[in-house]
Amino acid sequence: METKIIDGRQIAAAVLDDVCVDLDKLSKVGVQPGLAVVLVGHDPASQAYVGSKERTCKKLGMHSRKEELAADTTQEELLALIEELNQDPRIHGILVQSPPPPHIDEAAVVRAIDPAKDVDGFHPVNVAKLALEDPSAFVPCTPLGCQKLLSASGIDTEGAHVVIVGRSLIVGKSLGLLLMAKAPQANATVTIAHSRTKDLAVVTRQADILVAAIGRPNFITADHVREGAVVIDVGINRVDDSSAKRGYRLVGDVDYEAVAPKCQAITPVPGGVGPMTIAMLMANTVKACQQMQG
Ligand code: GUN
Repeated sequence: METKIIDGRQIAAAVLDDVCVDLDKLSKVGVQPGLAVVLVGHDPASQAYVGSKERTCKKLGMHSRKEELAADTTQEELLALIEELNQDPRIHGILVQSPPPPHIDEAAVVRAIDPAKDVDGFHPVNVAKLALEDPSAFVPCTPLGCQKLLSASGIDTEGAHVVIVGRSLIVGKSLGLLLMAKAPQANATVTIAHSRTKDLAVVTRQADILVAAIGRPNFITADHVREGAVVIDVGINRVDDSSAKRGYRLVGDVDYEAVAPKCQAITPVPGGVGPMTIAMLMANTVKACQQMQG
């Protein structure tokens, strides 16, 4: 079977083209969407993500504010910054990079963000809106990116059995809600599997569309995948590689070499889901700005 490699970079570029059309319209009425990204500590992967979010903002001509705070920043200092960003009229989207250092109460930080500026979609108001299928919801960027990858690749989710491995709010749980919604590009039959699931391979082999969001390199093997399935790999794992320039390489949650030949379509890592997450963040920031114009 000829396997289709889903090109996340190309689809993300098309999303950003659409974002630019909206930015043009807003600029004609003197409005510039703005995004604030906040990073506490110096985790190298988080620094890389935050840097690329800021660069994408600037490239598109959006207002961008990057706050890199010391690892020993207190909860109170972080909450004070969130409050300042909530009040800042140039900022329409606020994102606090996850995970923060262990002394930070992440749930409290997320709840402090104005839900109207919660472009990550992690605030309880937005989680509830997603569950209620309210179109004003901010849907987390990675699930939104997965849905877009499928629709742009002509893969129909209507009635399809989507098996998601991973139950995090950032990916698994939110993607489940999104794809089971009574809506276009959704209407799927969703199963969410996780680390406690019995006979995981028996469950994942039922999937028409298998989404791996576990955070463990090469976890999904050929044995987990039905011939002809679509595989979306959300994992971005750094594994040591002394032959690589940076001393590591990125691999997904899927054993790509073994799984790809069995698939109808598959996303590579890098170049699959990753670029989509940033593109959807830009789209969510424009949506926040548009919703604030009333
Ligand atoms: N860490 C990994 N993915 C994400 C994301 O989508 N948003 C935030 N804030 N942190 C993350």
